[in-house]
Amino acid sequence: MKTILLPADGPDTVARAAEIIRAGGLLGIPTETVYGLGANGLSPEAVLKIFEAKGRPQDNPLILHVAGPEQVDRFCHHIPDRAWTLMERFWPGPLTLILPARDEVPRRTTAGLDTVGVRCPATAVTREIIAAAGVPIAAPSANISGKPSPTTAQHVLHDMDGRIEAVVDAGACGVGVESTIVDLTCGVPRLLRPGGIGPELLREVLGELTVDDAVLGELDSGAVVRAPGMKYTHYTPQASVIIVTGTSEGAARYIRRRLTDADRVLCFREELPLYPEGTALAYGRETEPESLARGLFAALRELDRPEIKTIYARCPSGGGVTFAVANRLKKAAGFHLVKGDEQP
Ligand code: TXA
Ligand code: MG
Repeated sequence: MKTILLPADGPDTVARAAEIIRAGGLLGIPTETVYGLGANGLSPEAVLKIFEAKGRPQDNPLILHVAGPEQVDRFCHHIPDRAWTLMERFWPGPLTLILPARDEVPRRTTAGLDTVGVRCPATAVTREIIAAAGVPIAAPSANISGKPSPTTAQHVLHDMDGRIEAVVDAGACGVGVESTIVDLTCGVPRLLRPGGIGPELLREVLGELTVDDAVLGELDSGAVVRAPGMKYTHYTPQASVIIVTGTSEGAARYIRRRLTDADRVLCFREELPLYPEGTALAYGRETEPESLARGLFAALRELDRPEIKTIYARCPSGGGVTFAVANRLKKAAGFHLVKGDEQP
């Protein structure tokens, strides 16, 4: 199969993309968070192709992308008031809501669960494609399972060329990390994955919000996992990733003592002068958390080379989207953190 690139502003892009979805094919879709690997979410046959193209375990459910809140009733039931409030406030945008699924949603899409994640992406062309196709688009991130999510159409082609019909190219994603996922099927709403919408904003609307254990640390193998995807390794380059905490200077001292030719540093732009030429890659500015979110996955992809053995990474701390950046980086590192300031 030859994968074609459709420019987001092309005159017939929406029609061609919608036709691919209606015909049961696979389509790379741009969203504000990351690129998705989309198919007709109501067709078990089409959805199966997503799992095959990604190499994704079939117990890992997909998010259903809708054109607007008015479509949610068709796929979900027992929708609490607070779900409507969240949709009104944050849609279209990087927020996925877990709600009880109607029977119309194939259990292959939900990986056998009675709940489904729904999200309305901010990227206009993708909402237009969903509306034109007349069906919701099921889409995970368009990477090979376990690899960093794609934030450009070129990343999608790198992973999926020849496996999908087309990619709609809308340039680099504005947010850069995947959507925030909130489970509204439990008593107190639960944050399953931090993302573009920070926990502080959610608490403004919801009052209370618990943070799932999977967000904060590595899970024991026997642990109950509420977002099945959280139990798989993620975003992992071939090298081992070690997060070095502490001040810029303390961490740089720790890293420089250990750095070999086969290692690289993934740091903040402000820290580049602390490392020898050619050894460090900046993924954004520490003082601009949005730039870190936009740059993280592209940087992890750039460092995903067989000759690189260890990546020493600098991780931001804080709320908002910073919380999501730190979560993705800690997952890439398998929660391997060392204190740069306190060790020789
Ligand atoms: O920003 C995003 O959410 C991107 C773009 C393409 O929309 N999509 C994305 O999909 O990140 P994916 O499949 O890579 O991650 C979805 C996560 C997985 O961890 C999955 O287990 C979880 O959402 N999930 C999906 N449906 C769920 C459900 N019914 N209950 C709990 N977790 C669910
Ligand atoms: Mg993913």
